Amino acid sequence: MRDFLEAATTAARAAGALQRERFRTDVAVDYKGEKDLVTEVDRGCEELIVGMLRERFPGHGFLAEENDYGRGGGACTWIIDPLDGTTNYAHGFPWFCVSIALEIEGVVSVGVVYQPLLDELFTAVRGEGALLNGRPIRTSTRRPLKQSLLATGFPYDRTGENENNFANFFNFQLSSRAVRRAGSAAMDLAYVAAGVLDGYWEIKLKPWDVAAGALLVAEAGGRVTNHQGLPYAIRDHRILASNGLIHEEMVEVLQNR
Ligand code: IPD
Ligand code: CA
Ligand code: CA
Repeated sequence: MRDFLEAATTAARAAGALQRERFRTDVAVDYKGEKDLVTEVDRGCEELIVGMLRERFPGHGFLAEENDYGRGGGACTWIIDPLDGTTNYAHGFPWFCVSIALEIEGVVSVGVVYQPLLDELFTAVRGEGALLNGRPIRTSTRRPLKQSLLATGFPYDRTGENENNFANFFNFQLSSRAVRRAGSAAMDLAYVAAGVLDGYWEIKLKPWDVAAGALLVAEAGGRVTNHQGLPYAIRDHRILASNGLIHEEMVEVLQNR
């Protein structure tokens, strides 16, 4: 596991350095959908990370946002969001990160989230706790919900008939201290792990948005479930992560009770 963690950390730092270097420069932007952007830095970071990990672990598989690497790879799959917070990045809003996780036989076993502007490196190995820049982190002890700081996000396809998370946002704004929408799911989860945020929920995320962050929360002593409070897997539709102490209250709000 040491080798995997070290490789993920090195790749995350390398991609983070590229993000830092190109931040607020003339970065080319393409559209994947009406609201869904991709920049040349997203693509460059993915190439860098996959290249570095592939060189060290040629037999491993890859599930990453910007390219299809096919199936295969046996027991080990790297799950990569090369730049989480692309809309922020494209607009020069300083909130984004790199997210890298390693799934071994279907279990996320290593997770790394790196925020390059603050030089915050979050790491976790399953069963060994979570760290921020090498120091152990724990989820907060704050309760009840009405004194808690929460975070969420909204899907790109939020117009029209689609499920959009607006009602949940409204309900939590009334029942908590405040809800932030900072624009990076991986950072939201890392900040729940670090005890900065007390809870977080979202819908329609992809495995690369949550794989590393969900492990960080669990390893920092928090709780990660679906919106009904049932066990969560990274390919599920709805995530709820918290310090554990406000979890049931959050489930109540999400179930409209
Ligand atoms: C997005 C961010 C955002 C979340 C979106 C994600 P991207 O990822 O994590 O916070 O609300 O649903 O898709 O596109 O910036 O990698
Ligand atoms: Ca993402
Ligand atoms: Ca991304």
